[in-house]
Amino acid sequence: MSIKKKVLITGGAGFIGSHVVRLFVKKYPNYHIFNLDALTYAGNLENLTDIEKAPNYTFIKGDITDENFIEKIFESHKFDSVIHLAAESHVDRSIKDPLAFVKTNVIGTMILLNAFKRCWSENFKDKLFYHISTDEVYGTLGDTGLFTESTSYDPNSPYSASKASSDHFVRAYGETYNLPYVISNCSNNYGQNQFPEKLIPLFINNIIHNKPLPVYGDGNYTRDWLYVKDHAIAIDLIFHNGKESETYNIGGFNEWKNIDLVKLLCTQMDTKLNRKKGSSEKLITFVKDRPGHDLRYAIDASKINKELGWKPSVTFEEGLEKTIEWYLNNEDWLNSVTSGSYKLYYQNQYS
Ligand code: NAD
Ligand code: DAU
Repeated sequence: MSIKKKVLITGGAGFIGSHVVRLFVKKYPNYHIFNLDALTYAGNLENLTDIEKAPNYTFIKGDITDENFIEKIFESHKFDSVIHLAAESHVDRSIKDPLAFVKTNVIGTMILLNAFKRCWSENFKDKLFYHISTDEVYGTLGDTGLFTESTSYDPNSPYSASKASSDHFVRAYGETYNLPYVISNCSNNYGQNQFPEKLIPLFINNIIHNKPLPVYGDGNYTRDWLYVKDHAIAIDLIFHNGKESETYNIGGFNEWKNIDLVKLLCTQMDTKLNRKKGSSEKLITFVKDRPGHDLRYAIDASKINKELGWKPSVTFEEGLEKTIEWYLNNEDWLNSVTSGSYKLYYQNQYS
C-alpha cells in the first residue's frame, strides 16, 4: 500500500496519546504513524501492545527537548504532519517542579516547531502542525459562563501557564512564518490507561485498596469531563477537517462538582466490587486544598459541534462504568504503574 502521509504523534505512549495513536493506526492503513515518546513516568508502551506490530506503526523513543535528535528524525523521516501531545500534564507536579513544565511544554514545543519549520519552510502545502492544548489556559470561571474560543488566556498554575505559552508560540509561528497549524483546547479527560495521579484513576485505585480518598478543599470545584475516546475522535475530525490557523474547544457538556463525582464513583465501585452500599463513601477525606485551585472549568463546544458535527458519544455514567471495568480487569497494569516511584510521589503529595 502506498503511504499517503507520515504523521508524527508525540506523547503517544501516554493516556490520550495512546488512544489517538490506536485510532489513527487502525483507521488509516495508508498513513504511517510515528509515535515519539520519552517514556517518562506517564508513558507506557503497555498501552499499545495491541497495535505495536502493525505495519503502519513505528515507535521512536526520544525526548522533544533534545534538539539534535529532533532535527535528525525530521531530516530522516520528513513528517508531513505533527499531532503534538507530549507534555508534563499534572497540575500538582507543576506546583512542586515548575521548571520541568517549562522545559517540556514550552521549550519542547519550540524545538518541534523549529524542526517542522526547517523541514518544510519552502513548501508547507498539505502540511499541518496540530497542537493539543487544554481548557486550563483560560483560567477559572465563576459559578456561571463557559469558555469559548475567544475567552482571554488567564492561566493560574505553572502547568496551565506553560501550556498557554506553548499555544502562543504555535500561533506566533503561524503568523510569522506561515506555519500551518491548528490548536484544540480540551476539558478534563477520563477513561482507560490514565495514570493514577489524576482524580478518577487515583480514586479508583484507592477504593480497590480501601485507602482514603483525598478530596482537596471542600470538594466544590467543578470540572467538565470527557471520555478519552471521544477526545480522540474530535482530534481525528480536527486533523482532517479543521480550519487552518483556528482553535477548537472540546468539552463534554458534562459539569460535575468533584464531591458529587466522587460520590457517583463510590456508588459504581460498591456495585462492581460487590461491597455494601455506602462503604466506599466512608473513605472520603477532605484534605488541604491545591494552591491556586481553579474553581470551575466548563467548555462551550458549539464551534466543533456546528462546524465538524462532533459531540460526545457516551454519557458520563456509561463512560465511568467502562473506565471502572477497565481498571478492575487490568490489575497488572495498575499494579505495575503504582509500584516504585509512584509510592514516593504519593507520599510526598498526600502525607
Ligand atoms: P500524559 O501525562 O498521560 O502523557 C504525556 C506523554 O508525554 C507521556 O507518554 C510521556 O512519556 C510523554 N512525554 C513527556 N515529556 C516528554 C518529552 N520531553 N519528550 C517526549 N515525550 C514526553 O498526558 P495526557 O493526559 O495524555 O495529556 C496529553 C496532552 O493532552 C497534553 O499535552 C495535555 O496538556 C493535553 N490535555 C490533557 C487533558 C487531560 O485531561 N488529561 C485535557 C486536555 C488537554
Ligand atoms: O482541564 C483539562 C486538564 O484536566 C488537563 O489539561 C490536565 O492535564 C489534567 O490533569 C486535568 O487537570 P485537573 O487539575 O483538573 O485534573 P485532576 O484530575 O488533577 O483534578 C481534578 C479535580 O479533582 C481538581 O479540582 C482537583 C481535584 N483533586 C484532584 C486530585 C488528584 C482532588 O480533590 N484530589 C486529588 O487527589
